Amino acid sequence: MSTNTQYTEAIARIKDKLDIVQVISEYVILKKAGRNYIGLCPFHKEKTPSFSVNPVKQIFKCFGCGAAGDAIAFLMKIHNQNFNEVIADLAQKFGIELPQFKGGGASNTELKKQLLKANKLAAEFYHKALDSYAQGKKVKDYLAKRDITDNVIKDYMIGYSPNQPSELMDYLKKEHGFSDDILEKAGLLSQRSNGQGYLDRFRNRLMIPIMDENDNVIGFGARALEDGQNPKYLNSPDSILYNKSKVMFGLNKAKEAIREKDSAIIMEGYFDVIRAQVNGVKNVVASSGTSLTQGHLKTLSRYMNERRIYLAFDSDSAGQAATLRGAEVVKEAFMGLGEIKQYDESFGHGEFSCEIRVVVSAEGKDPDEFIKAKGGEAYLSLVEKAPLLIDFEIDSIIKTGGKDASPQEKAKVIKKIVKVLSQVQNQIIRSEYIKTVAQSLDVSQMALRAELDLYQAPATPSEQASLSNVTKTSTKLQIAQKKLLSCYFVDGSNIPPSTLNNYLDEVEFTEETLSQIKKSLREISEQAENTEILQKMLIDGFVGQIQAQQEIIDIINYSGEIKDLGSSLMKQYIEETVFFIKRARAKQVQNELKSRYYEAKDDEMSSQLIQYEVRDKLKQVNRLKLGDIHEQKI
Ligand code: CTP
Ligand code: MN
Repeated sequence: MSTNTQYTEAIARIKDKLDIVQVISEYVILKKAGRNYIGLCPFHKEKTPSFSVNPVKQIFKCFGCGAAGDAIAFLMKIHNQNFNEVIADLAQKFGIELPQFKGGGASNTELKKQLLKANKLAAEFYHKALDSYAQGKKVKDYLAKRDITDNVIKDYMIGYSPNQPSELMDYLKKEHGFSDDILEKAGLLSQRSNGQGYLDRFRNRLMIPIMDENDNVIGFGARALEDGQNPKYLNSPDSILYNKSKVMFGLNKAKEAIREKDSAIIMEGYFDVIRAQVNGVKNVVASSGTSLTQGHLKTLSRYMNERRIYLAFDSDSAGQAATLRGAEVVKEAFMGLGEIKQYDESFGHGEFSCEIRVVVSAEGKDPDEFIKAKGGEAYLSLVEKAPLLIDFEIDSIIKTGGKDASPQEKAKVIKKIVKVLSQVQNQIIRSEYIKTVAQSLDVSQMALRAELDLYQAPATPSEQASLSNVTKTSTKLQIAQKKLLSCYFVDGSNIPPSTLNNYLDEVEFTEETLSQIKKSLREISEQAENTEILQKMLIDGFVGQIQAQQEIIDIINYSGEIKDLGSSLMKQYIEETVFFIKRARAKQVQNELKSRYYEAKDDEMSSQLIQYEVRDKLKQVNRLKLGDIHEQKI
């Protein structure tokens, strides 16, 4: 059997194993809507879902930006990988052997394998170092003092990085033949400060391996052991294995429980998670070494249907701020997928995109300390009683005021509360909150209601309008760009490629694929003898790039519309299109600036700056005069 047929067969087997809903839900929070699934498109910014996945046809399509294709096209698009690279990754994932052929995309997979191996060996090395290095003793004492038992140390592969420059590096190089380059890519080395060679990144620290969902070691969180050793936690740098803004510490051990309970508890620290999990609170994770991001929630939501999120950050003021910030991230991640339970309990449960609750452990303790003192059961009952986010928010705002505050202070507090209450859709729930708030601040319900009526939520409708304008301009703009490129494919137009190239040089393309096609056309157009050969050369240059090929086909089709124009009309057509692109681009820039201006309008300083920028750009746009040529109708 030839390598080629083997390859084709392997691809067929891979395709068999792919389920588009599964694939996409690793990147997009999907919600069932009839036969399809919907979500927020990962390929353009949007607030209401226009991205739809059809499990029967096994395709996705975004009605907002037009992205479409099968599971492989999705992966290619989202990872910016070519066909072979995606296939290589999938083959590894499914344990399907691919025939080796030179120059294929397998090298990235090979590299990943190496990095995983290095990290695994490193974790084992650090773990053993607890016993094999004399200094390991003090770490064991430290762990014992924290009530971390030997079983836990083993289970989480906790370890110690020796207090010497290159113990791990020497070991991995000598015993396992790794290169500096690989070890650095694995995040295990750092460059010496004099730039001469490397040393171990982690030295004299307590090592906590960070695992992916399949128990592979992908990085480390490393705790300081001495006073004055900074930072307190040193984490692995981002690498092709480890992406801070997606990885959730503890998920490998929590995933089954998250699925079962259909909820996840998010804590701040490594030790919080470890403590909770070993004390029977299993559905617990932490964002490792960074604050919560939408990426973390996407990772989590793959394991949940109804999506109940408990925020269990520390109860100090930093933790409170982290809770409120975290809650915004959660809301944003699920926005557009249904109501969020905290705001409106009157809907059936299935309507909710998620439910957010806040676990408050008393006495300024973090979950680790709380559970260590009171046990897992006590913590579980805290979780059970955890208030909805809205109650937590209102409570913490009210705490800053109170019955005895001055009228001015009360007004300030009310202003903050109104912001929260304005998000409650249901009138019954709203008026219940108005009642309680009015009572606890001792203000009149009527006044509170009046403030609420006056409150204007941050200009959503106009925001929406300007957003849709932007999309409209950008699609027109894309079409214009394609039409300009289509001029290369008109036989006998008497406009030589070199002239077209000059026109092309005048405009900046906005979209990556079209820019690439433009660049490629610019390079090959003078070599091709005729348009047919040009087509073939162009398409061959984008092998495996579904989107680009789709665009190329569009471009070639557009050339049909102008093939009979004749050279003078054709020239006019080109000039008008060039003009349109320039102007639309300028408008787009202006819109971007405007929306930045509105976002920043609370911050006087930056809004001033942006105002100047907008004014400048407007002047530039107005200077662009079409003269006698009318706007090209597209
Ligand atoms: N963190 C970090 N880098 C730092 C400080 C903190 O990545 N320089 C992360 C770690 O994941 C840490 C979490 O933030 O676990 C919470 O930090 P903190 O509350 O300071 O530490 P604790 O988890 O309470 O650590 P410990 O109990 O070991 O003191
Ligand atoms: Mn702690």
